[in-house]
Amino acid sequence: MMKTLRIGLPVLLLSLGLVMHAQASEPASPKPKKAPKPATSLPAPDYLPAEARAALRKKMARHGQAMTDLMLGVTLLQYDVASAAAGRIVNEPRLSRPVPDGADELNTLLPERFFTYQDEARSRAQAVQTAAQKRDDAALAESFGRLTETCVGCHSAYLSHRK
Ligand code: HEC
Repeated sequence: MMKTLRIGLPVLLLSLGLVMHAQASEPASPKPKKAPKPATSLPAPDYLPAEARAALRKKMARHGQAMTDLMLGVTLLQYDVASAAAGRIVNEPRLSRPVPDGADELNTLLPERFFTYQDEARSRAQAVQTAAQKRDDAALAESFGRLTETCVGCHSAYLSHRK
């Protein structure tokens, strides 16, 4: 016991000295960059008239609100929260596909992919809800990932339009 202490102490002091030396000789680190703050809205797409966008935003306002609940509900395995948030997405009012001569209705201005994503979001939200109700953690993780793909996909289609 004494022996290890006698050997240990100088080693300890030496390494302490090395650590302090290393700290002293480190160049002054640059100030850490502030993480960019997230915006809570999408930027305005350039092809939609302002009134059309305003109408659409009103319809979409609800699905944004479900996001925080959904994320926390799924990741922290709060099944009731996840199920209710997914249910809100399932029951969201949807935009109908444009009808042949609907002229310049909002629906005709949107890219076709928008409507595909809309359908997908609904069925994938349904899968999240089912997984939450079953308390199936693996299915919850997978279905949440698949739902999130449609969120990003639709926002991308919406912003880049027909590209
Ligand atoms: C069918 C297309 C579509 C799908 C699917 C979709 N979104 Fe959106 N989302 C939109 C549109 C359109 C807007 C409004 C865009 C604007 O402000 O011009 C929007 C806006 C939002 C906003 C901002 C709301 C605000 O107050 O400005 C959030 C947050 C959001 N979506 C989250 C999600 C999440 C999370 C999902 C998936 C669970 C999702 N969206 C799926 C089309 C979609």
